[in-house]
Amino acid sequence: MRKDVRILLVGEPKVGKTSLIMSLVSEEFPQVVPYRAEEITIPADVTPERVPTHIVDYSGTVTANVICIVYAVNNKKSIEKQSNQPFTTFLSVLPSPYRVPVILVGNKSDLVEHSSMETILPVMNQYTEIETCVECSAKNLKNISELFYYAQKAVLHPTGPLYCPEEKQ
Ligand code: GTP
Ligand code: MG
Repeated sequence: MRKDVRILLVGEPKVGKTSLIMSLVSEEFPQVVPYRAEEITIPADVTPERVPTHIVDYSGTVTANVICIVYAVNNKKSIEKQSNQPFTTFLSVLPSPYRVPVILVGNKSDLVEHSSMETILPVMNQYTEIETCVECSAKNLKNISELFYYAQKAVLHPTGPLYCPEEKQ
């Protein structure tokens, strides 16, 4: 059994990385967001998989067991960027011998009516590291706990099937 899980959030500026972490912790959308959230630790007994979980806001020097690449669903540019350079940059900060699962996180779903899945599917097909994708909103707290649950699961059960909540309906 793993003794803990480290989840790292990365992504273009202003897509809502820090807001997602703060929304999870306080169960309320932060009106004022610091640039970076302090690393937080969720005790084992309140996580679905019963494993202590650390959540880390992006910084160039940290390592992790799972990476959440956050983009904003209302910003086509932040989506497209995931398919090229920044994505491989994020992967390259990790120690190479271990394969780290990646979760694509489309934040700010409160701002759009249509899903971004169509745009994101080609990216998912391009990188086998991508375990799953999820659309969420730090603002209306949609799919926030799910996102961190998928991240935990990607580490603890890495062969899990592809899962998109949008396809569930
Ligand atoms: P950097 O640290 O500068 O890279 O940005 P970040 O990715 O941490 O984004 P941050 O959490 O600072 O949020 C950027 C802006 O987007 C803020 O004005 C937030 O209030 C807003 N925001 C974050 N999440 C959401 C969301 O789900 N919906 C909406 N409508 N706005 C959001
Ligand atoms: Mg931030």
